[in-house]
Amino acid sequence: MHPLQCVLQAQRCLRWGPLTSVSWLLLRTCRAHSGVRSSAGPSPERRQEDGVWKDFSSRLATGPTFQHFIRSASVPQEKPSTPDVEDPPPYLTVDDLLGRQRKVYLETYGCQMNVNDTEIAWSILQKSGYLRTSNLQEADVVLLVTCSIREKAEQTIWNRLHQLKSLKSKRLRSQVPLRIGILGCMAERLKEEILNREKTVDILAGPDAYRDLPRLLAVAESGQKAANVLLSMDETYADVLPVQMSPSATSAFVSIMRGCDNMCSYCIVPFTRGRERSRPVASILEEVRKLSEQGLKEVTLLGQNVNSFRDNSEVQFNNAVSTNLSRGFSTNYKAKQGGLRFAYLLDQVSRIDPEMRIRFTSPHPKDFPDEVLQLIHERDNICKQIHLPAQSGSSRVLEAMRRGYSREAYVELIHHIRESIPGVSLSSDFIAGFCGETEEDHLQTVSLLQEVQYNMGFLFAYSMRQKTRAYHRLKDDIPEEVKLRRLEELITVFREEATKANKTFVGCTQLVLVEGLSKRSATDLYGRNDGNLKVIFPDVAMEDVTNPGLRVQAQPGDYVLVKITSASSQTLKGHVLCRTTLKDSVAYC
Ligand code: 5AD
Ligand code: SF4
Repeated sequence: MHPLQCVLQAQRCLRWGPLTSVSWLLLRTCRAHSGVRSSAGPSPERRQEDGVWKDFSSRLATGPTFQHFIRSASVPQEKPSTPDVEDPPPYLTVDDLLGRQRKVYLETYGCQMNVNDTEIAWSILQKSGYLRTSNLQEADVVLLVTCSIREKAEQTIWNRLHQLKSLKSKRLRSQVPLRIGILGCMAERLKEEILNREKTVDILAGPDAYRDLPRLLAVAESGQKAANVLLSMDETYADVLPVQMSPSATSAFVSIMRGCDNMCSYCIVPFTRGRERSRPVASILEEVRKLSEQGLKEVTLLGQNVNSFRDNSEVQFNNAVSTNLSRGFSTNYKAKQGGLRFAYLLDQVSRIDPEMRIRFTSPHPKDFPDEVLQLIHERDNICKQIHLPAQSGSSRVLEAMRRGYSREAYVELIHHIRESIPGVSLSSDFIAGFCGETEEDHLQTVSLLQEVQYNMGFLFAYSMRQKTRAYHRLKDDIPEEVKLRRLEELITVFREEATKANKTFVGCTQLVLVEGLSKRSATDLYGRNDGNLKVIFPDVAMEDVTNPGLRVQAQPGDYVLVKITSASSQTLKGHVLCRTTLKDSVAYC
């Protein structure tokens, strides 16, 4: 069997079959591991709530039998869109699932998807009666939304758990015990290994299990460990609207798809976030409409492979037309067919509010058919900014990474994009020191950076991850110091080239969406241009083009025209000309 097929089948089992009961099994295993003996009663700190405990304990005693597991394992999910959350089992009442005003402190690590997931998790807990706090000291529940992409990301969490352990032990007897949860990618990757290694952790919830948080926390209330690390074939949290935390925010992220089917050989994401699935177009449009009504001026469509979007929820669109890929690109999976694609979604989203900027991240270079490029070019409010993760400039390394393209195909795509969208800003991700990367391969990456001159870049040293294809088939043979030296070289070249690219803006006028006061100077404001570069300018009164004669001071959410006077690898500086609107403005040189 093809290894991908094997993984896919395993994941299908995760969703449809016996793994519905694995959370229970894991729960039971964890109970055994945690040293909490249910027959011996609660931990000392729990005795203060003895009444509740007895009630809970007696219900637990009449809890699920082996038959219960068999039943839940064998019943197929009838509605594919139904989330992976079980009805409360007989020994948990609806009351047990309530937050009882417990205060939750959420801490986010990793990518923008995790930031969005944090708000999804919070939205679910808020509905269950939890309160949110931004003060760790007053929290009853601490949830870390974690990342596994590189070893360092996980190490940060282990260190944090160490600190939280001491916070937990200092908890007063008069208080409810502090509960600690690991959410997201690290929970999914390490599963019960986390509970075994760090006893301070009470609950685990994988990226597809956030609907189960109230139940997991209810189980944790009794001093037991609880976990749900089921991956889903269809969970998109389509109906869970993230809570907009800052009412003055100008921008929001809207999750449109989850998971990844690409199976690049270095990447843990398909294993932590599961199969690719897209949210129905209608629910995305509804969310964007709401954000527009709230006055937000920018929406970023989010997904692990955002431009592989494919909404198959409406049968009439599931025809046999297969997907157009970028020229010279291939996939590691069988061609997919039908569904509403990214170009359709982008078109619909951008029509909602012509004053709302639309961005998207993170795309894969294989999914840029001409219709997407054409739309970006034509539509004023779709930002002319494309992230095109290359990962390496060497075709040999790209093949080992299973990226599905050569350096030549990638460079041809860059030319095609620049012809189709004049003035487009480009950014990329690169990995230094992948398995078997020679000095010559590395120099090819250096030369790609010079050839393309990206405006922004994200550069990383390779970190071998268990489970990935590279872990099983390749050798992590580049010494750490060589990886770091190559990374430094890439960063230096990237900065030189980005400075050159950004200096072409000097003398030009840019449309900037104002975000707020500059962090470095109280007399400056900052915002972003269409290409997502930070632009800093003095906070002075200016003309308002929609109200001639009126002098105004820019506010967050305003569009202003800024004449650029200087540029570095990361920022542009200039002076403000006037307040304007997106449709009335023309950025020019
Ligand atoms: N080691 C280093 N960087 C990685 N990335 C993904 N997996 C790894 C890894 N194992 C980088 C890629 C990706 C970005 C999000 O993180 O460049 O595009
Ligand atoms: Fe980290 Fe990737 Fe998970 Fe985002 S999806 S949190 S980058 S491992």
